[in-house]
Amino acid sequence: MTLQRRSQRATLRRHAILGSALLALSAALPASPVRAGDAAAGLEIARTWCAACHIVDETQQSGSAAVPTFAELAGRPDFDEKTLGEFLADPHPKMPDMALTRGEIDNLGAYIASLAP
Ligand code: HEC
Repeated sequence: MTLQRRSQRATLRRHAILGSALLALSAALPASPVRAGDAAAGLEIARTWCAACHIVDETQQSGSAAVPTFAELAGRPDFDEKTLGEFLADPHPKMPDMALTRGEIDNLGAYIASLAP
């Protein structure tokens, strides 16, 4: 076997290893629901739009005392991403109407859901 062919084979083998590593990784990830929001993006939105009143993550020092923290919301037995979406599409009078897009609401829902105990 020539030197060149041998290195081609080594490259092929590396690709195969990489490919199966990726496969194993994607198998380890949970199957995503149909309208999966992006929790990391949701945290960014929460820090921008919600942190003035709500404590949105554990690094935040202060929010309004009368306002539930996002971790509290996530722990409520009746919390789910659908009711959050409905609430945010038609916000509580004590909350400003932030005109969030459907995608932003999905991301916020995914983020808050990720805080559930
Ligand atoms: C100007 C202050 C303010 C901002 C900004 C704000 N909220 Fe609120 N939020 C409140 C207050 C006050 C309540 C409690 C209302 C009550 O229980 O009467 C509340 C309650 C909630 C609730 C609970 C509703 C329920 O059913 O009890 C959710 C969910 C919520 N906020 C989500 C959000 C999200 C998501 C954002 C950012 C996009 C946000 N809020 C931004 C003030 C705010």
